[in-house]
Amino acid sequence: MMDEGKLFLGGSRKPDDSFSKPEYLHLPFANRHGLITGATGTGKTVTLQILAESFSSAGVPVFCSDIKGDLSGIAARGEEKDFLLKRAEQIQFSEYDFDAFPTIFLDLYGEKGHRVRTTVAEMGPLLLARLMDATDAQEGVLNIAFKIADEGGMALLDLKDLQALLNYVGEHASEISSRYGFVSKASVGSLQRGLLVLEQQGAAHFFGEPALEISDLMRTTQDGRGMITVLAADRLMNNPRLYATFLLWLLSELFEELPEVGDPEKPKLVFFFDEAHLLFNEAPKVLVERVEQVVRLIRSKGVGVYFVTQNPLDVPETVLAQLGNRVQHALRAYTPREQKAVKTAAETFRANPGFDTGEAITALGTGEALVSTLEGKGAPSVVERTLIRPPSSRIGPISDAERQQIIEDSPIAGRYDRDVDRESAYEILMARAAKATAAKQENEEEPADSAAGRWSLPGFGDEPEEKPTRSRSAGRSGYQRETVVEAAMKSAARSFANSLGRAIVRGILGSLKR
Ligand SMILES: Nc1ncnc2c1ncn2[C@@H]1O[C@H](COP(=O)(O)OP(=O)(O)O)[C@@H](O)[C@H]1O
Ligand SMILES: [Mg+2]
Repeated sequence: MMDEGKLFLGGSRKPDDSFSKPEYLHLPFANRHGLITGATGTGKTVTLQILAESFSSAGVPVFCSDIKGDLSGIAARGEEKDFLLKRAEQIQFSEYDFDAFPTIFLDLYGEKGHRVRTTVAEMGPLLLARLMDATDAQEGVLNIAFKIADEGGMALLDLKDLQALLNYVGEHASEISSRYGFVSKASVGSLQRGLLVLEQQGAAHFFGEPALEISDLMRTTQDGRGMITVLAADRLMNNPRLYATFLLWLLSELFEELPEVGDPEKPKLVFFFDEAHLLFNEAPKVLVERVEQVVRLIRSKGVGVYFVTQNPLDVPETVLAQLGNRVQHALRAYTPREQKAVKTAAETFRANPGFDTGEAITALGTGEALVSTLEGKGAPSVVERTLIRPPSSRIGPISDAERQQIIEDSPIAGRYDRDVDRESAYEILMARAAKATAAKQENEEEPADSAAGRWSLPGFGDEPEEKPTRSRSAGRSGYQRETVVEAAMKSAARSFANSLGRAIVRGILGSLKR
């Protein structure tokens, strides 16, 4: 049943509940995105698991997050159990077999997988503002701070870099205001407090180097199977906003970095966005618009995005409209909101004359779903009541020892495990502060000379009428210039190369373009 070009999802049923036909997800349409919905305990995680397994077998790498730890079983061979064999028989799945799948575990905290990080610069002001729940005014200040770092050739790597930069902006608020637009000290103060909160929540783990290479998510094994990258997200879920922002950053990185491929025979990567409601919760309109844009455009990069959430109403209509492949597990319909959700979910399906879609949604059993996928010329199939196939890997979590073994044997073992703390904004600004203090002590009576060591960014302070660093002559501020250029050289392609003459380009979601 594992026919070329399509993934077996399960078997649909006739009105009398007998087996009707196999249901498939078609690989050429797998980049037209998808949606997996249903109440808790209805079978969403197992559906995600069988999809990830099948994509992997078809040579498509997968990224997914593991909220409760129960998806980690995908890395272990499943065990023969009566209910699994019975399900396989019900849907005439004669080739049902057990297997383990090639898995890479990631963890922002480095406990249950390889460390994963990005730099503050790469995340960009838009997502950081979202992460810090910044007001418009605060976001404006953040934008200015990034601009200053951009112009000064300062690498913004970790949270202490951003902290140092904000301190600088606060201390020079009036000069900066006259040049870049209004910077209120109150906004800077709020941002600084926001940063402290982030740090207390453990976000500092996530910012720094070495940053995650997108190519490490796109691996296949020697025997041609797609690697399944599983982000351990149980601890991360204590900070839902960091979780959602991280996934959004990843999505925007994929979008910015991957080349156009049009409509490939099969996706280059499939990205499951679990607990997708967190992405859209209280999200400002502009962010929803950008997400919509990224989801729409990432298709031609060969990336299929599958949102997993309880309720289809969790996803804004503009995004929902782009999710072609649907697996709808059971929903409850007690409250008016629930009834509305059922109605909305029902309306998004191409009706089947054999049953009432809305009624079916509330009557589905565990591991059963309404399924409609894109087929033929890309039109949605008539919705079918489908018993989802049983997984080949283990249902439920793997043990700590099993996980440790997989982490040790991983193709990216050792690559991200240690922090690299190279010179960045924090070090540059601290060095300047130290030099300024020293100069002040030495030349108490000659304040003019202390300019050489002043804690100042290029283009600020001593000669406000001058242009920024590039046109600045060496001399009094030679020390600063050197540090800045030096830092930029070290930053290489990854960070701000603009002080060497290249412009900074930020993508749709404000992340860095390389
Ligand atoms: N396709 C399936 N085949 C066999 N059993 C399933 C299937 N889907 C779900 N189940 C059973 O239902 C349980 C709950 O499913 P799960 O996917 O964890 O629900 P959810 O993620 O929606 O809370 C699983 O542990 C498993 O025992
Ligand atoms: Mg689940």
